[in-house]
Amino acid sequence: MKQNILITKVEKSKVENIDFNNIPLGTTFTDHMFICDYEHGQWTNPRIEPLAFIPTHPAAMALHYGQAIFEGMKATVDANGNPMLFRANKNAARLNFSADRMGMPHFPEDLFVVGLKQLVDLERSWIPPTDGSALYLRPFMYADEPFIGMRAATHYKFIIMASPAGPFFSKRIKLWAEKQYIRAANGGTGEAKAAGNYAAAIRPTELAKAKGYDQVLWLDAVEHKYIQEVGTMNIFFKIDGKFITPKRDGSILDGITRMSVIDILKDKGYEVIERAITIDEVIEASKNNTLEEAFGTGTAVGIAYIQNIGLEGETIHVSDESPVGLEVNNTLNDIKTGRVEDTFNWMTKVKKELV
Ligand SMILES: Cc1ncc(COP(=O)(O)O)c(C=O)c1O
Repeated sequence: MKQNILITKVEKSKVENIDFNNIPLGTTFTDHMFICDYEHGQWTNPRIEPLAFIPTHPAAMALHYGQAIFEGMKATVDANGNPMLFRANKNAARLNFSADRMGMPHFPEDLFVVGLKQLVDLERSWIPPTDGSALYLRPFMYADEPFIGMRAATHYKFIIMASPAGPFFSKRIKLWAEKQYIRAANGGTGEAKAAGNYAAAIRPTELAKAKGYDQVLWLDAVEHKYIQEVGTMNIFFKIDGKFITPKRDGSILDGITRMSVIDILKDKGYEVIERAITIDEVIEASKNNTLEEAFGTGTAVGIAYIQNIGLEGETIHVSDESPVGLEVNNTLNDIKTGRVEDTFNWMTKVKKELV
């Protein structure tokens, strides 16, 4: 599909004010955003314009009924400063999976990728050059029709904004296995990247942090024993030489890092099993010394090495080192920065077209 994206540039970029060695987390945004409107049953007027407040009617349906979904991904640069995207088509497909679950319209996947590329091309000077840094990209869609009443909205906005993110130093994390609150139940919205899932996780996460933990380890909604995922990450355990990760059962997010880590582990010769795993099995493995390492996987941090898991009455010591996790993280970063050949064919180069 040929897309005509109208581009209106800022008069003066703010990039010169940014200290790339000290980027405040999540509060710095680039000069422009990609934006597109849904009305009369179709997406119209794709454009890139200066990032600005968007006038919103107080009855905009996303504010009341929560039709809001998002994606998260990163643009990185190779040694020559050429921007690249990691598996952008997977994010485009996942957005539409979320849209289906939330009764929202699909966004054309080719326009998603073209919009991303054009925005990254325009904002290429915002991609931090330091190793481990990236330009975080946040595509999202929400219902902006003013209407009081429970039905699917007829007007939506799709926007992509970008925020430079400094190098992330993975410290070992401590998880709280949550048995009171749940994140997702069968038939719910857990597999969608819906804003409401995150709203429901905020209070339990605050409580876990107050107890000295970094993130919540979510358990199933019925028996509170099957492991689902962690905060904004999927999870892998290495037990007795094999990797186990909870299988997709409709309640965990289909993480793009998860699917990539499965491929990388298999490529390195490890056996990876996608199956249900209980917290009791992890406790048992820790007690009989077969729990070798565990890590979370997600776009924001790549791989987060897990040190401990706390739950009522006990603490599971996982490991003090994660040699395979570290190796996989290095491989992922090497692919994302073009230091090794992209044998999986995951990267898309962003050509210099606009500026
Ligand atoms: C709930 C949840 N699980 C897992 C992930 C990891 O997904 P990805 O690897 O695509 O970033 C995320 C992050 O998007 C998340 O929010």
